[in-house]
Amino acid sequence: MPVIVIASPKGGSGKSTTAVLLGTELAHAGAAVTLMDCDPNGSLTLWSQRGAIPARIEVLSNVGEGDIIKAIRSHDRDGSVVIVDLEGVASRLVSRAISQADLVITPMRATTLDATIGVRALQLIAEEEEALGRTISHSVVFTMTRAIRSKQHSGIEESLLNQGVDIITPSLMERAAFSALFEFGGDLHNMPAQGRMEGALENASLFAQAVYSRLTQEAAA
Ligand SMILES: Nc1ncnc2c1ncn2[C@@H]1O[C@H](COP(=O)(O)OP(=O)(O)OP(=O)(O)O)[C@@H](O)[C@H]1O
Ligand SMILES: [Mg+2]
Repeated sequence: MPVIVIASPKGGSGKSTTAVLLGTELAHAGAAVTLMDCDPNGSLTLWSQRGAIPARIEVLSNVGEGDIIKAIRSHDRDGSVVIVDLEGVASRLVSRAISQADLVITPMRATTLDATIGVRALQLIAEEEEALGRTISHSVVFTMTRAIRSKQHSGIEESLLNQGVDIITPSLMERAAFSALFEFGGDLHNMPAQGRMEGALENASLFAQAVYSRLTQEAAA
């Protein structure tokens, strides 16, 4: 079943937040989810230690270059989803994870600097595609976006679309509830209210649905 790899060489682009939001929303919707923490800084592991791990989620910590492929293959079971969170670098571990992906998601803040570094993920994917002789589905999601969209955001989006890059909508807006996941652990559904909670819940759920629809399209292709 699907292996989703969250990858961007840009540090602080929202990878771990995206991994936790996606994992917890898919689990909330009934899927069995394995969250694989491949970042030596251990963001997902810290999240898992903060509060009760929601039902249907398993967290694997300290997955490194030597065991990533075996770990993915042994957790890639029918009816379950594997989500891999990576460090903000380009490394052999990142390339190996990408080689196993059904979908790579690159979270990106909608600023010129972040987009310039973030699109280097596309280059890593292209290299893996060449090595493997297969295409690897890939999408960008804008993170920490604001209600009023900047000109920079529109310009970056247009440029990516012109390059044929798939952009997931909705973007993940900047929300207190999303950063609070790492304070309280658990998921959005059982955390103490942070800001406008309905907005956060709707944003996360629509994002997870948009990812899920890409996986089902992929499986049908
Ligand atoms: N949508 C969001 N709303 C509010 N805060 C966010 C959002 N996304 C990320 N953040 C905050 O921004 C910071 C960086 O996010 P995160 O840790 O997810 O990025 P990362 O790409 O995993 O970083 P690293 O490259 O260090 O692993 C964190 O403090 C996180 O709480
Ligand atoms: Mg991270």
